[in-house]
Amino acid sequence: MKIIMLGAPGAGKGTQAKQIAEKYRIPHISTGDIFRANIKDGTELGKKAKEYMDQGLLVPDELTVALVADRIVEEDCRDGFVLDGFPRTIPQAKALDAALEKMGEKIDFAIDVDVSDESIINRMSGRRACLNCGATYHIVSIPTKEEGICDKCKNPVVLRDDDKPETVQKRLGVYHEQTQPLIEYYSGQGILRSVDGMRNMQDVFEDIVRILGA
Ligand code: AP5
Ligand code: MG
Repeated sequence: MKIIMLGAPGAGKGTQAKQIAEKYRIPHISTGDIFRANIKDGTELGKKAKEYMDQGLLVPDELTVALVADRIVEEDCRDGFVLDGFPRTIPQAKALDAALEKMGEKIDFAIDVDVSDESIINRMSGRRACLNCGATYHIVSIPTKEEGICDKCKNPVVLRDDDKPETVQKRLGVYHEQTQPLIEYYSGQGILRSVDGMRNMQDVFEDIVRILGA
């Protein structure tokens, strides 16, 4: 099963994608996580990506598309994948369709996690992320067991640089302008499914499972 997660920054794409990956035993591919891992390792790609990410801007398509095109042909993607944070622009969506078509494949579902801008701002300011293992928490809804320490790998959890309030506003603007048009794009292909992302995580996940099938 090949799945795309759509939604504003902080809508819960990552939270849901991790659960989907576990239940359906397919890899979770998050372009944001790949960029953050590259930044942490100080790679050339990481250096370039950081310039854009810290400003709340999208990393250029030419850097992003190649990364995903190379990833989805790997062996573990044979039975499908859940893409989180990609595509984010119409050219990325078209490039993905073209790459899959070459393999005789296509996307099965584009799941849009719908959350109001107001709630997004609340969620992001409370999110804490482990830059070592990628786990995410929220100071109110999913706190770490020990304050400031990742439950899974015991490294510190931090407020992401791009979760500062002024950068979140910028990311939301970029989302409405460049990413929201994908809703219409996938609706036109008949594969768009929307879920109400304002409810608790388990209810959102149950809706997604109803869509994907048990
Ligand atoms: P990326 O890492 O993809 O960030 P994003 O889309 O801005 O989304 P987030 O990861 O911030 O949010 P999420 O929807 O995953 O929410 P989460 O589950 O964490 O990208 C970062 C940057 O990289 C971009 O800005 C861009 O520069 C660059 N980039 C990445 N991909 C790119 C691409 N394709 N092209 C160009 N540039 C690209 O949840 C958020 C918080 O809410 C958490 O604290 C969580 O615990 C909590 N939460 C989740 N669900 C619920 C719920 N139902 N109720 C209450 N709280 C909840
Ligand atoms: Mg995410």
